[in-house]
Amino acid sequence: MSKAGKVSPRRVLIASKHALFAQGLSSLLQERPQADVVVVGIASSIQEATQMLHAHQPDLLIVDYDDEHFNREDVLARFVEGEGRLRVVLLSLGESGHEAIVYDRRTMVAAQIDDWLANWVEGEHLIHSSNRVIAPGSTDSDHPRRSNAMKHLFGAAIIIILLAAAIIFGLEQARLLPHQASLQARPIDNLFTFHFRVIGFLFALIIGFLLYSLVAFRRRKGDTEDAVHITGNTSLEVLWTVVPLGIVLYASILGARALGETLRADPRALEVRVVGSQWSWRFEYPDYDIISTELVLPVNKQTILRLSSTDVIHSFWVPEFRVKQDALPGGEAMVRELRITPTEIGEYQVRCAELCGRLHYQMMAPVKVLSQAEFQAWVDSQIAAPPTNPVERGDRLTQQFGCRACHSIDGTPGVGPSWKGIYGTLEPLADGSTVLVDREYIIESIRNPGAKIVAGFQNIMPANIGAELSDAQIDDIIAFIESLK
Ligand code: CUA
Repeated sequence: MSKAGKVSPRRVLIASKHALFAQGLSSLLQERPQADVVVVGIASSIQEATQMLHAHQPDLLIVDYDDEHFNREDVLARFVEGEGRLRVVLLSLGESGHEAIVYDRRTMVAAQIDDWLANWVEGEHLIHSSNRVIAPGSTDSDHPRRSNAMKHLFGAAIIIILLAAAIIFGLEQARLLPHQASLQARPIDNLFTFHFRVIGFLFALIIGFLLYSLVAFRRRKGDTEDAVHITGNTSLEVLWTVVPLGIVLYASILGARALGETLRADPRALEVRVVGSQWSWRFEYPDYDIISTELVLPVNKQTILRLSSTDVIHSFWVPEFRVKQDALPGGEAMVRELRITPTEIGEYQVRCAELCGRLHYQMMAPVKVLSQAEFQAWVDSQIAAPPTNPVERGDRLTQQFGCRACHSIDGTPGVGPSWKGIYGTLEPLADGSTVLVDREYIIESIRNPGAKIVAGFQNIMPANIGAELSDAQIDDIIAFIESLK
């Protein structure tokens, strides 16, 4: 158990003004059978202690300090700083003489002196005992401490590795991302995967150390001591600053590369102008002169969307394509671009990702990704069949321009008045008067929506919606409303 038998006896110097205490402590040290201790001298003044220190070269100096003969700061300055192998314990006598007050002035029952002497003799560092002990420069007991630390580090590392593996596996099983259906989604998903792994590892690192410490360093039965006070560890602090910095810089490089990939332009891209209005989407294909309420795209061909808004800020987002872009009001200067190369034939949905008013949650439109041949067939069908009937044309226009997001055609109350049976009736207005719903009134309501507000509704119709409609188109819309008996 003890290494003391194999090495030369520990040499102890006691410094105390109180002869009785010094003698008592001296006997206590030398009487212990397993303690290989020699008390080399008892000094009664600081000068004497200094002389004996040089003459006898003790391993341990026990100082019974007071303010008169052995001033604490004086002792610290003389003996603690400088000397390499010397270990110094500072004690102070209590009032009753039955207890000793140690350096940090916490009380200690006499039996505890036995404990820390035993600990010291058995090769443990005195700093592990309950008492504040100054033990500078000692090296003989560093080895067991270091191997103990390695044991803890190893134990914690195993928990962290297992926990990290479980979390990363769990995150990958959880399928946190929606289906991937565009070329631009790939670099974004790679970024997500990288981040999920780093986050999983960091979580395991923190929780793993926490769990290990809760068990390994828990308070044992009968242990009433404070833990060792640690003030800092420079290499650890450098490590936990430099490693995260490196990870963040690496992530920024990956992010810049992914952004570059999502913006890569194909000069043969199909152009679609996307117009958001409260609360509908309109898709215009300038190459084919098509206006559609659904976004139809050919597979494996890049489409460039040019986004704008007639009223407030909307945001174009198809989760399966990952990329997202705001649609801003303000005309040509504010048009924003988004490039999408669909990779899977199927049906998706565009949703508005910017809170834009009462029916924001309903602002969705179907997205269809077709094969090249089917896309061409769809284009042909759109071009070939312009309806000849004005009611049919008006029906289509009111869908294309998003009117029906607010005005129902079946009497259902909406944000605006329903059109069912409205033509030819007298409507009560917000100002108390009434108006006949006829051709003139509908034209005014489209060109200048704020002029007459029907009682019970708010003045929220986009003011410039009429600017995009020709007189002939408005005539078709009137024919359509008139037909809704
Ligand atoms: Cu448009 Cu939300």
